[in-house]
Amino acid sequence: MSSVDYNERIPNNVGLAGDRTLQRALERWQPRFREWWGEMGPEGASDYDVYLRTAVSVEREGWANFGYVKMPDYRWGIFLNPAEPGRKIHFGAHKGEDVWQEVPGEYRANLRRIIVTQGDTEPASVEQQRHLGLTAPSLYDLRNLFQINVEEGRHLWAMVYLLHRYFGRDGREEAEALLERRSGDRDNPRILGAFNEKTPDWLSFFMFTFFTDRDGKFQLCALAESGFDPLARTTRFMLTEEAHHMFVGDTGISRILQRTAQVMAEHAISDPVDARRHGVIDLPTLQRYLNFHYSVTLDLFGADVSSNAAIFYSTGLKGRFDEARIDDDHVLEGATYPVLELDAGRLVERPVPALNALNERLRDRYIKDTISGAARWNRVLERHGIEARITLPHKAFNRAIGSTAGARVAPDGRIISEAEWRAHESEWLPTAEDRAYVASLMGRVVEPGRFANWIAPPATGIDRHPIDYDYVRFG
Ligand SMILES: [Fe+2]
Ligand SMILES: [Fe+2]
Repeated sequence: MSSVDYNERIPNNVGLAGDRTLQRALERWQPRFREWWGEMGPEGASDYDVYLRTAVSVEREGWANFGYVKMPDYRWGIFLNPAEPGRKIHFGAHKGEDVWQEVPGEYRANLRRIIVTQGDTEPASVEQQRHLGLTAPSLYDLRNLFQINVEEGRHLWAMVYLLHRYFGRDGREEAEALLERRSGDRDNPRILGAFNEKTPDWLSFFMFTFFTDRDGKFQLCALAESGFDPLARTTRFMLTEEAHHMFVGDTGISRILQRTAQVMAEHAISDPVDARRHGVIDLPTLQRYLNFHYSVTLDLFGADVSSNAAIFYSTGLKGRFDEARIDDDHVLEGATYPVLELDAGRLVERPVPALNALNERLRDRYIKDTISGAARWNRVLERHGIEARITLPHKAFNRAIGSTAGARVAPDGRIISEAEWRAHESEWLPTAEDRAYVASLMGRVVEPGRFANWIAPPATGIDRHPIDYDYVRFG
């Protein structure tokens, strides 16, 4: 069951041909998806031949399939990791019972909500990124953008399959609605805040793929623990795709820092004005972009204290990150977990029932992951003899969701007055002027092997090709 049948209209490894009703329903959704892609997918890129990878199986070697594809012809399909025989639910009230192959009636509404919320982020990011191809800093980067875009499209397929297969008529209606909401739309926006923000330039794109795709990784990891086996299996396969998205963000920021550090070292400059004079992204601007994307992404994990999170866990729908490796009873009755609270003008930790703090716990685990990313970036600065460092702001900084929402918190975690916030906001968050400067650097570089001045080339090419390979052909 792990190999994918590409002779079918919808490539899949779920035996779709054996379920004619489902197959027909998905075949009716397919042209609607293509219409959406045509309208909201990468702008002006439908004739390009792009060197893309397409999964041919869910095994490790299944990713070896690289070739030139026009994006509208990409074979979006339905891939689930193979079932693990005898898999048991390993947390919550159903711990020890067999995993479910069908949706338990009493959990149907919650499961649907979880799947729709995850599914909605996938087309949202394609919409957010649709203009970026016009200002790609190289063919290598352009190809990576498109690879991410087609895979986010496939992630939408993954969630739509679950909706169609397991949720009947409401599932089909939700699948339609996933194609109708639009990122940033006033009347019909995407469900989560960060997915309605703009991704107007490549600095934002790399920040987004580092921070926000990483939120995706943590959400998918939590869902990969689910007692609803089809959800666990589909998210496990999505994680293999997600890894590449985070790689693009991680190395993208590294390459920007490398270029900035080179220029600073070469000309012995440290003033951001001088860095800008040389046409690179100055470190304070990069730090402000980071502060923005980090804080907006932290909000995606939801309220610190959440009864929904408790219900999702107790009922076996959504586990913790790396659930199996955590050394406790996996039920969490009576356990506590610390969350931050504002108390008389200070941030204090308060223990709350661990079941209610699962969002906060996932957020903390995510923060740990991002800290090692920032440490890698700082090694780039160190190697070039630059003293300045990139830092992650305090987790209460600039939050709109959770117990510190709306509080004025400096990046170092101090609670400050509204006046102090206003006096420093332009040092902490991107200004209109920063955005205009970054926008002024964005220009299209399409000569193989050439890179925009503000970013260093990558260490290696794709699929063992050289860096100056023509990863995108314009026909
Ligand atoms: Fe995704
Ligand atoms: Fe992603």
